[in-house]
Amino acid sequence: MQGIECSFRHAYIQRQALLDIGMDQRKATEVFHEWAEKGKDAGMERGHAPSVDVMLNLLLEGVDKPFSAIDIGCGNGWVVRKFAEHPLCNNALGIDGAVAMVERAREIDPNGTYCIGQLPEWSPEQPVDLIHSMECLYYLKQPIDFLRNIHDNWMKSGGKMVIGMDHYKENPESHDWPQSLNVHMTTLSIDTWVKGLEDAGFEDVKAIQTGAKEGWNGTLVLSAIKPHRP
Ligand SMILES: C[S@@+](CC[C@H](N)C(=O)[O-])C[C@H]1O[C@@H](n2cnc3c(N)ncnc32)[C@H](O)[C@@H]1O
Repeated sequence: MQGIECSFRHAYIQRQALLDIGMDQRKATEVFHEWAEKGKDAGMERGHAPSVDVMLNLLLEGVDKPFSAIDIGCGNGWVVRKFAEHPLCNNALGIDGAVAMVERAREIDPNGTYCIGQLPEWSPEQPVDLIHSMECLYYLKQPIDFLRNIHDNWMKSGGKMVIGMDHYKENPESHDWPQSLNVHMTTLSIDTWVKGLEDAGFEDVKAIQTGAKEGWNGTLVLSAIKPHRP
C-alpha cells in the first residue's frame, strides 16, 4: 500500500514539476490547427481586420514598384489574398505551422501560395520586399533572435516589415492568455521589441498602438526597414 501511495505521490510531484517549468504547455500550431478545424479562423480574421488595415496601410504606403510579400503566421491566408489583389504584387506567400489553417487557405484560394512550416526553422527560398505578421511572433521562444533571421535571410535590402501584436507587456489584458490557452507566449515590452529590431539591423523602427480603448491598450504595431547596402 505504501508503495502505491509512494508512486502516486511521485507521479503528482513529477506533474507539478512539469507544470512549474511549462513543459505541459501545448504547441501554438496544434491549438490553431484545432481552431481551423472548428472554423474559428474566420472570427480571428474579423477580430484582427481593423489592426491589419492599419498595418497594411503602413506597409504599402509609398510602394510604387512591383513587390513580393510574405505573411508570417498567415492563418487562413486572408492577408496573402489582400496582397495578391494589389496591382503591383508579383508574388505573395503565406506560411503557417497549423496544417488545417493552411489547408483552409488552399481551399479558399487554390491558386495562392501557402506553405506549411514550423518557425523559426522554416525560411523562404527567395528574400522578399515586404513582410507582414499579425499575432504570431510572440508564440516563439526566442522572437528577438528570429528578428535577426528575418532581417538576414527573409528580406531584400530596402525591404519593409510590419508586425502586429496584442500580447505585450504594456497590454495587461493579454497577460493571462498563456495560461488560458496553455500555450507559451513571450511577453516583451515595447522598448524590447524596438531595441530587438534595431539590434537585428533594421532602421527607421517605429512603434504605435492602434485600437486602444478602456481596459485594452491596443495592437502594438512595429514597422522597420532593412537598409540598402551599397
Ligand atoms: C493568432 S493566429 C493569427 C493568424 C493570422 N495572422 C490572422 O491574423 O488571422 C497565430 C498563427 O500563427 C501560427 N503560428 C504560431 N506559432 C507558430 C510557429 N512556431 N510556426 C509556424 N506558425 C506558427 C499559428 O498556427 C496561427 O495560425
